Amino acid sequence: MPSQQLQVCSDAEAEKIPEELLLGQFIPLHYHFNMLQDRARMDPFREAIDCVVPPGGTILELGGGTGVLSYFAAQTAARVWCVERNPALVRAARGFLSQNQHGDRVQVIQADAMTYLPPEPVDVVICEMLHVAMIREKQLEVLRSFKERYTAKFGPQLPQFIPDASLLAVQLMNQDFEFGGYRAPVPMFSPPGSHPESCYLSDAQIYSTIYYQGDIPTDFELNQSVPILKSGTLTALCFLTKNFLAFQLAAGQAVQWMMHQLILPLAEPLEVRAGETVQIHFAYAAGCRLEDLQQALVVTRQAMPNMLRRAA
Ligand SMILES: C[S@@+](CC[C@H](N)C(=O)[O-])C[C@H]1O[C@@H](n2cnc3c(N)ncnc32)[C@H](O)[C@@H]1O
Repeated sequence: MPSQQLQVCSDAEAEKIPEELLLGQFIPLHYHFNMLQDRARMDPFREAIDCVVPPGGTILELGGGTGVLSYFAAQTAARVWCVERNPALVRAARGFLSQNQHGDRVQVIQADAMTYLPPEPVDVVICEMLHVAMIREKQLEVLRSFKERYTAKFGPQLPQFIPDASLLAVQLMNQDFEFGGYRAPVPMFSPPGSHPESCYLSDAQIYSTIYYQGDIPTDFELNQSVPILKSGTLTALCFLTKNFLAFQLAAGQAVQWMMHQLILPLAEPLEVRAGETVQIHFAYAAGCRLEDLQQALVVTRQAMPNMLRRAA
């Protein structure tokens, strides 16, 4: 890991760290273990790749990491170009692929996915630079750039993308930020679903649906009045991201990957009552830092109509 990442530094100093060294852009090999053993991620990727990759087809993977998704694709495809920027991962992926069946069908290329194009048109592009809320990693920037350069070189027919689409939502919640009796409202990542220390106070509000064949957004904004369904202390916003890795239209279903949810504490907790509404406002750029998203959050109570106040 580069020494800059180990230093404790102020926000101003952090601004100076080159983008490619920030965690999210630069994921050291030992972090890849978490991704490799995450069945909730790996199983749907394998299923989507099995269902989308045509026998004998050509595949491009952008951000190949350890090469695992390229390996899945190589079980059916004739050739896979696997692009990875981090030289340590390029070396690791080459070593791992040489130990796995059909690994010889994968060519690992050390390159920046923002500039790389395959030597010929491909059937499928796999890109897993995904992060909940589309912050930190450059999924959207990379695929926007790829589509522009690819169509300029090969014409208007785009390959199929894995994922096909992503859906972003946010939910108001009461999160207990106590750890061993110590209150510490820190940003948290937790598996999807409800947990004893979490209580949702509203429905999830969808604020973006990204379809990778279509226009890919550069930023996101929500300015919405949200009904409170359950009284409680509003302490956090929960960001949810569901990826549709492959639509299986004939079967009327999709292979889905619900990512860990990101729970961001609010600067000030708010007491809220069922029946009233809360205004959520935020705007952020895709790929921004977690701190930028946190600083962008504005959550305010809205005046409750008299009749409702009396009823509550
Ligand atoms: C979330 S990991 C996924 C790795 C692998 N595809 C998997 O599913 O296990 C994203 C990978 O993209 C790589 N990456 C990030 N930005 C890149 C870029 N601009 N060009 C090439 N690779 C990049 C990172 O180094 C990392 O290995």
